[in-house]
Amino acid sequence: MMQDIKAVFYSQEQIQQKVQEIGRQISEDYKDKKLMLVSVLKGSVLFMADLMRAVTIPCEIDFMSVSSYGNDTNSSGRVRILKDLDRDIEGYDLIIVEDILDSGKTLSYLKNILQTRNPASIRICTLLEKPERKNAEIFADYSGFDVPNEFVVGYGLDYAQKYRNLPFIGVLKEEVYQ
Ligand code: IMP
Ligand code: MG
Repeated sequence: MMQDIKAVFYSQEQIQQKVQEIGRQISEDYKDKKLMLVSVLKGSVLFMADLMRAVTIPCEIDFMSVSSYGNDTNSSGRVRILKDLDRDIEGYDLIIVEDILDSGKTLSYLKNILQTRNPASIRICTLLEKPERKNAEIFADYSGFDVPNEFVVGYGLDYAQKYRNLPFIGVLKEEVYQ
């Protein structure tokens, strides 16, 4: 896998440090709340697994799966629920845990759906954000790192379902995308 990597943007250590910071902040902000972390599969699994361990207050977790990308590197704008939450979220203070906020279409759609189920609150926590996106419909309440407007992989993020198991965030060589 390593021979496909052009550059590393954020190392394992940098990611761990950032995740600890976010976990600490969430633990403070949600002290007296009914916290539920909702991970959006599959990209956020690594982030979720580390973040929930960095949260020091009681919390529940659940998972959702939506499709927004095929094997392509451009957002289709079409979002489909592949797996819904197992639980009723009424009265819960939700944090949606995402890998990356790009156009924001996926999260905007998700947030609207979840809002109709009467949670006490909904916030967004994303590990990565592409700051160049112009027509953002949604903003992150907790955000780890900015990445340039390139297609990144690793730490859960895939290209054509591969590279999720890289422990760092990086970018692939051009020839891999061809
Ligand atoms: P959005 O709807 O454009 O915000 O796209 C969000 C989803 O697209 C993310 O949850 C990722 O699964 C995927 N995505 C967007 N940019 C990248 C990237 O650079 N690498 C890997 N996946 C990405
Ligand atoms: Mg995703």
